[in-house]
Order: sequence, then C-alpha cells, then structure tokens
Amino acid sequence: MYASFELERLVTAQTLRKKKEQGEKFTVVALYDAPMATMAQRTGVEAVLVGDSLGMTVLGYDSTVPVTMEQMIYHVEAVARGNKKSLIMGDMPFMTYATPEQAIANATRIMQAGAHMVKIEGGAWLTETVKMLTDRGIPVCAHLGLTPQSVHKLGGYRVQGRDAEHAKQILDDAIQLDQAGADLLVLECVPATLAKNITESVAMPTIGIGAGRNTDAQVLVINDILGLTEQPPKFSKNFLVEAEDIPGALRKYAEDVKLGLFPGDPHILK
Ligand code: KIV
Repeated sequence: MYASFELERLVTAQTLRKKKEQGEKFTVVALYDAPMATMAQRTGVEAVLVGDSLGMTVLGYDSTVPVTMEQMIYHVEAVARGNKKSLIMGDMPFMTYATPEQAIANATRIMQAGAHMVKIEGGAWLTETVKMLTDRGIPVCAHLGLTPQSVHKLGGYRVQGRDAEHAKQILDDAIQLDQAGADLLVLECVPATLAKNITESVAMPTIGIGAGRNTDAQVLVINDILGLTEQPPKFSKNFLVEAEDIPGALRKYAEDVKLGLFPGDPHILK
C-alpha cells in the first residue's frame, strides 16, 4: 500500500553523510520490534534506533539505567529481522562502554545482533573509545545534551546547554567526537541555536530531539509518534491524530521532517 515510500536500497552512514552535504533532511525513529521496523522501511524512514529508551517504553522501568546487554540484543535482533533497508543503530546500555576495552567487547555483540552502528552517550571523554571502535570498523553515533543514562548526575530530564559556558562545552565535545571519527550525533534537549551552531561546525550529520529544526535529521520515539505516552514530552508530536493508521502516521512524520515542517513552533523548547 505504501510501496512508493519504500526505501530503495540499504541506507549506510555514507548515505546519510551525503544527505547532509546536499542539505537533504532525513528521518530517524526509535523503535523496538520487527513489525514497527518493517513499517519504518516501508515509509521511508532512513534510520532506526533500537534505543535503551525501551527500558521505559517497553519494559516499565523508571529510567534507562537498568537496561541490560541481553535486553538490547533481543530487541536489536527483532528489529534487524523486520527491516533490511534502514540503517539500524543499537544503543549501548549504561556502563557497558565505561572503558574502551568494554566498549569493543559489548559493541561487537550489538553489531553481531544485527546493528550497523552503535550509539554511546557522552562528551570528550569518549574520543578514545570512538577512535578505537571506528578504527576497527564499528560505526558510532555519539549523543550529547540531555544524556538519559546520566539522569541521576544531571538531576532530572531538563534542557542542557542554556548558559554560554555549558553551550561551549557541548560544542567543543561535538567537535572532538567528530574529529575522533564519530559517524552521527544525537543532540537531545539543547537550545535550537546551539544545535544549529553544532550542525554547522561538524562534518557528521546531527539528529535532533528537542533541539529545534536546524539539525540534519530528527528522531522521535515510536510511542510518542503513535500517542502511546501518557505524558509526552513537549517536543514530540502524536502523528496518529492526523493519519488513518500506523503506516500513515509514520509516513506523515517522515514527510514532515524531510519538508522541514516538523518540528513546528509548538515543538521547539524555549
Ligand atoms: O534511547 C533512545 O531512544 C534515544 C533517543 C531518544 C535519541 O536515545
């Protein structure tokens, strides 16, 4: 039914870098199972993230901290079975990349489960890890701003980088991770001006969530896109309201991101 939106070929990190160079926005969805992964491929979603948000969205935990390698692997395998075209990113759980050696051992397992890239949260302290992983053929998505695995250190889920000093630190972290070889960068809950500045300062594509509209891509969690979240974050949107069915909601999300219509003003954090 949605064949015309189906991705034509496997999306790679190189595909996404080319899109950035050509000023073409792309779409990412955080999802956790085979049927949703298939819908994403059929509706033109270039990348899917098997996020450790599954701790909250699927498993009922209060944060991402309790998520284990075994749980991530189980869900990466399911998503990989359902989607043969989108780039599949697998989150590395809390404390599974505390040292570069741990990162290599655990990233290997996530890649062998079917991911094409791993995602890790943190700033300049991760440059050695990024270099070790990418030098050994494991692509890396970095994650800055609100990094949910550090929620207990950050003191809650709130916008990061509002003051000039912190904004500069996040920008410097992004530049160092880019130079270390990171392939993508998630920017979560940072001011739109900072996200724009970072996007213009790094070669890797940036993926915003609660980071305004001037990133190279957007990511939303499938539960928010489909209105399954009791108290959805302000930056998200329930696309099922305007669509007939689930594929329609995903297709509308993908189209709106690519046309620069999402996020709209109501979804931009002040
Ligand atoms: O775990 C996740 O789903 C994420 C996204 C919200 C970026 O990290």
